[in-house]
Amino acid sequence: MNDSRMELASERRVSWFDTETAPSQPSPSQVTSQDVPESDAVELPIVCIVGLGYIGLPTAAMLAGHGFRVHGVEVDPETRATINSGKAHVIEPDLDQLVKAGIDSGRLKAFAQPAQAEAFMLCVPTPVDERAAADLSLVDAATRAICPFLRQGNLVILESTSPPGTTERIARIVHEETGLTDDQVYFAHAPERVLPGSILHEVVHNDRVVGGVNEASTQAAVKLYKTFVRGQIFTCHSRVAETVKLVENASRDGQIAFANELSILCDKLEIDVRELIELANRHPRVNILAPGCGVGGHCIAVDPWFLVDKAENELGIELPMIRTAREVNDGKPKWVADRVIEHAAKFKSPTIACLGATYKPNIDDLRESPAAQIVRDLVGRVSGTVLLVEPHIDAFDSVELCEMHDAIERADIVVFLVAHSQFRNISQETLAEKLVVDTCGATHQTLAPK
Ligand SMILES: NC(=O)c1ccc[n+]([C@@H]2O[C@H](COP(=O)([O-])OP(=O)(O)OC[C@H]3O[C@@H](n4cnc5c(N)ncnc54)[C@H](O)[C@@H]3O)[C@@H](O)[C@H]2O)c1
Repeated sequence: MNDSRMELASERRVSWFDTETAPSQPSPSQVTSQDVPESDAVELPIVCIVGLGYIGLPTAAMLAGHGFRVHGVEVDPETRATINSGKAHVIEPDLDQLVKAGIDSGRLKAFAQPAQAEAFMLCVPTPVDERAAADLSLVDAATRAICPFLRQGNLVILESTSPPGTTERIARIVHEETGLTDDQVYFAHAPERVLPGSILHEVVHNDRVVGGVNEASTQAAVKLYKTFVRGQIFTCHSRVAETVKLVENASRDGQIAFANELSILCDKLEIDVRELIELANRHPRVNILAPGCGVGGHCIAVDPWFLVDKAENELGIELPMIRTAREVNDGKPKWVADRVIEHAAKFKSPTIACLGATYKPNIDDLRESPAAQIVRDLVGRVSGTVLLVEPHIDAFDSVELCEMHDAIERADIVVFLVAHSQFRNISQETLAEKLVVDTCGATHQTLAPK
């Protein structure tokens, strides 16, 4: 697909999303898999996806697989080259084949700049800055980048997780830059809830929350999502959709903080926190989550701060529970490192094998990883040797990677940081002579009733 083909197609049919062609507003339970049109049976709009990372690339490849023509936009030249050679730069089951099929069919291509399209999806990162406030600079940049290509009747969807009001902010930027109003362009937020490792399945099968800045925008976005979503689509205002996503992650963060706090209590009580939680969860209405070495990733460890920042700095209220949960989870890696260093003091020159560095099991993602933070902390503080076993990455910044059996054999202390499936099968005999610190339950045996 080249730019001129894209332009011609766009001129041919400018308003795929116009309300007269859009479906009437569905009630939540009305939109089901039976409503998903066959991709061959409908003329699909051209979609420009800005940001081809963990969310943008699977979405782009999946849409190309559904028959959309997808103009991908990616600032990183290496990432563009990888994608255009038919490969995925992120590890995700089946993604490589889907990207290759998209590139081979000419339905997917990565470019440095946006082009005219009918729908624009913004999938750029939304990190927190040093004040723990949302850094929307990449959303703003992506919005300004699409402005020269926007036409009346286009749909702009924000998929990036964002503070309440960000979709309306995008509409304001578009208005300032182009003069187009939210009566002329549709603006909506559709938060992603996909689980890394199952993204291609979940992006189609999960229920979706779709919220426009006005009713027509909501309907336009629903029309697009109905072409590929097989879960139910629930509609609301964009500010609700933005807040829903943040609240989901703040809720998970709070529940994990509770479990992490229990692990600190149990350490002092010299009891097993997993045994405690398993027994407490036999209560029919109690469901405590599992503790870990902290909370990582770009979602749960980040998104609750968007709420805290909004509340404290714009709304003049405090959110002590959400803030405290973040602080408890953020404090856990240092607590783990301190415990390991206490154990290390029992040896003259200890060798510590750290098992796992990613932010959760069976993925290659190190972003905001508490395990990686612990490894770096130990490397800086231990007078001995720190070994890292991480089967999902090729290199780590502060220490060389080691083969699992070799590392365990050499170690005085084995620290389980991430419950990768490879680590769950390590025998008791292999660990018999070792001092074991299990922060993630990799060695835990489920209790059996007597
Ligand atoms: N990864 C997940 O599991 C997940 C789940 C739900 C929501 N989200 C949200 O989705 C958004 C994207 O996350 P991600 O994990 O895909 O991030 P990512 O870092 O994997 O990918 C983002 C991509 O955007 C590119 N980029 C940045 N600015 C750009 C610009 N102006 N133009 C073009 N490309 C640009 C980056 O180079 C990168 O390749 C974030 O808001 C995140 O919170 C992610």
